[in-house]
Amino acid sequence: MYKTGTDIRKARLLLEEEELVAIPTETVYGLAANALQPMAVAKIFEAKQRPHFDPLIIHTNSLEKVYHYVTEIPPALLSLAKAFWPGPLTLLLPRKPVIPDLVTAGLDTVAVRIPRHELTLALLSELDFPLAAPSANPFGYISPTTAGHVHAQLGEKVDYILDGGPCEVGLESTIVGIENDEVCIYRLGGLSVPDIEAVAGPAILKISLSSNPKAPGQLKSHYAPRKPLLLGNLQELDRQHADSKTGVICFGEFRSLNPQAIIKNLSVTRNYKEAAAHLFAMLRELDESDCELIIAALLPGEYLGLAINDRLSRAAAGSHDII
Ligand code: TXA
Ligand code: MG
Repeated sequence: MYKTGTDIRKARLLLEEEELVAIPTETVYGLAANALQPMAVAKIFEAKQRPHFDPLIIHTNSLEKVYHYVTEIPPALLSLAKAFWPGPLTLLLPRKPVIPDLVTAGLDTVAVRIPRHELTLALLSELDFPLAAPSANPFGYISPTTAGHVHAQLGEKVDYILDGGPCEVGLESTIVGIENDEVCIYRLGGLSVPDIEAVAGPAILKISLSSNPKAPGQLKSHYAPRKPLLLGNLQELDRQHADSKTGVICFGEFRSLNPQAIIKNLSVTRNYKEAAAHLFAMLRELDESDCELIIAALLPGEYLGLAINDRLSRAAAGSHDII
């Protein structure tokens, strides 16, 4: 793993040369490049095999710098920025022309966030450009929450992986914007809806579960393991597939009837934060194990359970055709 380390200077030099560097954040690892250079940004799309209609988030380390890239921050969004940055919040803001079309897929808004990770904040503070960074996984696959995950999948395509340890939050940022003076949430993530509403007032959920490219990045099938993932009542699924080698994702105590089952518990104590931090790594472990299929149940639809359910549903969406 010679490509992995904690050398901020090396990361900076590579980024200044318009190369790709994987960076740790509190949510998931990002695949970063200079957001102001279309040729550098193009490398991200190439490495991830990501469709160009799916816009990227830019990352920087201060509110002052954010104003270099956006024309304004509406008051409701500014109060969210002040409350939650650095943190798992992405804001959709009207962009300045300095942001290339490739970053925004031609939209008038740019997605911006200040991530909460010491190493990456130190790196960003030394750069005079923002970093465009999607999750550092091949398009459509499970997002990476360790440097090892990045290395396993994009190791060949990335010049350096800045290792900041396992991601603390484990789910992508919550994406928030404003339409007709109303705060809208476009992607559920590491910041819960009540957290947002406590600061910005009532918010409208605009989460799409379609395969409509007009809702970028919100494709129905995403975050998906290669093995089939079935969602439903866990006891029933366990009984139905008692003859197969299953991988089980559970939340709180679960006793399988299947002696072959590999059990992964998101949180024995039913703690949502812990479950969020474990979700992607456990899906990956099961995908890499010798189980034939993965079974899971949705969590209660409250707090971070909503965002976890969003990821589980999209991860399962492709499996109907397989089974
Ligand atoms: O936590 C995160 O947000 C991570 C870390 C690395 O920061 N990044 C991440 O990026 O999840 P990505 O590319 O996997 O997801 C970004 C999503 C896009 O798929 C799209 O849905 C949305 O952000 N997005 C970006 N710009 C947008 C825009 N101008 N309008 C609407 N949605 C946008
Ligand atoms: Mg992603």
